[in-house]
Amino acid sequence: MRVFSSHKELLKSVDSNKQVGLVPTMGSLHKGHLSLVERALSENEKVIVTIYVNPTQFNDISDLKKYPRNLESDLDKLRDYKNIFIYSPTDEDLYEEVVSKNYDLENLDKILEGKYRPGHFNGVATIVEKLFDIFNPNNAYFGEKDFQQLSVIKTMVKKLSISVNIISCETIREADGLAMSSRNKHMTSEERLIAGKINKFMIKVKEIYKNKKIDKVPISIIDELDSLKNCKLEYFEIENLSKHSSSLTDEGDRIFIACWIGKTRIIDNLALR
Ligand code: PAF
Repeated sequence: MRVFSSHKELLKSVDSNKQVGLVPTMGSLHKGHLSLVERALSENEKVIVTIYVNPTQFNDISDLKKYPRNLESDLDKLRDYKNIFIYSPTDEDLYEEVVSKNYDLENLDKILEGKYRPGHFNGVATIVEKLFDIFNPNNAYFGEKDFQQLSVIKTMVKKLSISVNIISCETIREADGLAMSSRNKHMTSEERLIAGKINKFMIKVKEIYKNKKIDKVPISIIDELDSLKNCKLEYFEIENLSKHSSSLTDEGDRIFIACWIGKTRIIDNLALR
């Protein structure tokens, strides 16, 4: 493992003839991130893992300030992997001016997360385009937990004709079904128990969908979830993201959820087909 804060230095060390996989992260690594790193290592000769809390994708400054940062413990988790290069830059190494570009994401950045986090997806697309531009990877790995983000990145890549394979990787879950996330550690043990129920609600909707293809989550299920202690629902919707971007091939119907458990915002999704 080698760690770089300068992309120019990192590029000097990676043989440009090798097949490169890129795993962009914001750090606070958990098993979900490590599964991306392992998949990338199994499919590429060299893997670049980026650890950077990107300011342009935070629509709320207090969220940016409290986002967990644990570089030393992240490096400990990556230490035993061979053939990986870690890029942990300052803002200056990436941005001349810390602002987002504006992308044509059609309707993708107006629904679900886009509605609740204005500007978020332009910020994500900005940093991911920069990383693709710098490292020119053959393959780039993203988790399905942020399924809308994945669709935004696929759309951006298609519209800008960037030559990279976007590899979507299955969500890694805790034993009770909660999707792994860097934000989970903010919850108290009581909140954590409540959060563990979210996946069960998604499975309930999937069961109903199987018997009778519904296009909305039944109101009784929304009410049941919303009445959980400490839980404030933002959305719980069935969507097919390909309807919102002409760059996507059929992504299929999925259930998408965002809710607050205490002060922690949780998002998740599940394929219905
Ligand atoms: O999913 C994330 O952690 C971030 O949105 C990403 C893709 C690393 C861009 O900052």
